[in-house]
Amino acid sequence: MIQIKKISAEETYPIRLEVLRKNIPLPYQFDGDFDNDTFHLGAFKNEQLIAVSSYMKTSNNLFKGNQFQLRGMATLEAFQGLGAGKLMMETAFEILVNLKIDCLWCNARTNAVPFYKKLGMAIKGNSFDIKYVGLHYTMAKMFIF
Ligand SMILES: CC(C)(COP(=O)(O)OP(=O)(O)OC[C@H]1O[C@@H](n2cnc3c(N)ncnc32)[C@H](O)[C@@H]1OP(=O)(O)O)[C@@H](O)C(=O)NCCC(=O)NCCS
Repeated sequence: MIQIKKISAEETYPIRLEVLRKNIPLPYQFDGDFDNDTFHLGAFKNEQLIAVSSYMKTSNNLFKGNQFQLRGMATLEAFQGLGAGKLMMETAFEILVNLKIDCLWCNARTNAVPFYKKLGMAIKGNSFDIKYVGLHYTMAKMFIF
């Protein structure tokens, strides 16, 4: 069984490094990691942390209203496809709806676009390149009250 819990910024770092920063010379610590509004989620299987994601109060001109940005979504390779990412996102949606947030957005790597689409996120605008990582799309989920 996979359990989702809030974790600290520091707890996200090993999985960010392993999954998102291998051979990529970009920081694994993000501006906003320690902001008051920021929260980090971890997925645990048999008490092992197998996936992480972070949610920060950051606005994007493409969207209106109260916004959060999803960053650092990563599941350890050996545990991908088991539902950890989906469970983290569903937990985040509940938290954000309770906070009356209008929109969750992210800059999605192209390989992850189908994963986000399954969770109800839609592409907004054109693709763009992030140096060392490749093509990305901005994607968002709107919460309707
Ligand atoms: C993208 C990622 C976070 C998905 O996490 P995960 O824990 O493997 O995803 P889940 O097992 O919860 O998958 C949920 C659903 O999305 C689907 N899915 C997941 N990744 C997918 C992909 N790359 N392409 C197509 N479908 C995908 C799953 O099959 C599953 O479908 P189902 O609900 O019909 O069974 C993970 O593959 C990963 O860490 N990738 C490398 C890092 C990365 O690209 N992160 C995103 C940066 S923007």
